[in-house]
Amino acid sequence: MKEYRDKERLQLAATLHASDLADDEEQYLSLFDQGWQKILKHGDLERWKSGFHALPETQAATLKFNEDTVSVCANGVSDSQEHIEKALKKMHPWRKGPFDVFGVLIDTEWRSDWKWQRVQKHIAPLKGRTVLDVGCGSGYHMWRMLGEGAELVVGIDPTPLFSMHFATMKRYTPESNAFLLPVGIDDIPQGTRSFDSVFSMGILYHRKSPLDHLSQLKGLLRKGGELVLETLVIEGDEHSCLIPKGRYAKMRNVWFIPSVKMLELWLSRCGFKNIRCVDIDTTSTDEQRGTDWMQFESLADFLDPNDRSKTIEGYPAPMRAVVLAEAV
Ligand SMILES: C[S@@+](CC[C@H](N)C(=O)[O-])C[C@H]1O[C@@H](n2cnc3c(N)ncnc32)[C@H](O)[C@@H]1O
Repeated sequence: MKEYRDKERLQLAATLHASDLADDEEQYLSLFDQGWQKILKHGDLERWKSGFHALPETQAATLKFNEDTVSVCANGVSDSQEHIEKALKKMHPWRKGPFDVFGVLIDTEWRSDWKWQRVQKHIAPLKGRTVLDVGCGSGYHMWRMLGEGAELVVGIDPTPLFSMHFATMKRYTPESNAFLLPVGIDDIPQGTRSFDSVFSMGILYHRKSPLDHLSQLKGLLRKGGELVLETLVIEGDEHSCLIPKGRYAKMRNVWFIPSVKMLELWLSRCGFKNIRCVDIDTTSTDEQRGTDWMQFESLADFLDPNDRSKTIEGYPAPMRAVVLAEAV
């Protein structure tokens, strides 16, 4: 992994130097180093590494990221499909995708392409933009953003396994302008106002202080830049917000689930304008489900078996909104 990390760091340094983020180059590189120090000490690293290093070594691979399945392919790969599948499964669980690695389909827990379809058609065109994806997971959406012509995509996510998933694709296309910093939102330089688009998808409800999160996001956007916010919502007016007493859909770390109206009010109070909800969707057990690639519990286990409109705790089942807003 050290070899991958070192190559990726060199590429990141060169890219940052020539980008809109040049002023913060040293800080970003230091965060990259901090994040990788944690990954390299992780208790499961040996298992993940054994899979990563068993994958084909080819230098001549092509990555396709403008289709629903983000795929890597190359001529002359002689490893069997069974061998590649076994290697990839050393990095179980695979949550966000789908990916195709030399013909092996990684059927992830989430159909993240469905979320992208709901989001992509409404957002400002990404061509030429510098983009931040907060809580990027495996980087699936980062590839799709690059597929839409973004100039540079920076993802941040502190979960070490997701950096391994990102590296699994990135190693085959080191020159692509997509970089994952293995850190959380609170680590990155605040108030820099350097991104044209900032995505926060599936993050807000995990934050104990949602208004602080929105203000942080605003501080990262240039004036006129676009926030793409995707989060859990409930039905109701601007006075409605669910704060679960304990778990929500078995998750311990869900704090605030506002109505769309309340979310719009929060955004307005945080200084955003041109705020509009462009999509609302109830998450289905076809979009989030257990597969061979994610063998733990999934949405079907988090819902009331007798009433799928409720979580197992009796709260409204997951419904998600996409809200766009402009930073002033
Ligand atoms: C529900 S997932 C959303 C993933 C992806 N954005 C999507 O919409 O499919 C939440 C992600 O946030 C990441 N995360 C957790 N704490 C974070 C933090 N402090 N800053 C940024 N990301 C964080 C998790 O590792 C996880 O990948």
